[in-house]
Amino acid sequence: MRIVSHERTGPYRIKVRDMEGAEQLDPNSKLLDLSVEFCACGLSHNKPFCDGSHENTEDEQLSYTYVYDENNKRVILPRLYKTDGKI
Ligand code: FES
Repeated sequence: MRIVSHERTGPYRIKVRDMEGAEQLDPNSKLLDLSVEFCACGLSHNKPFCDGSHENTEDEQLSYTYVYDENNKRVILPRLYKTDGKI
């Protein structure tokens, strides 16, 4: 079973220049302009990195909770908790 309530529908995208340790790179390095995408949907087969599997959640809306069974059959419920974490 998989229970989903979204706070976002895509990956966390973090620029290398904003990562801890980036100050050790040459300030002119093109690496600083790259970004890394971390999975926020829980479906990636390459965690912690995003592999594009979040495309399977494109029809899921922030205001609902989705419950999937082992056959990927889905039940849609009202959102089970508020975005502040309170029920
Ligand atoms: S956010 Fe992209 S695979 Fe999870």
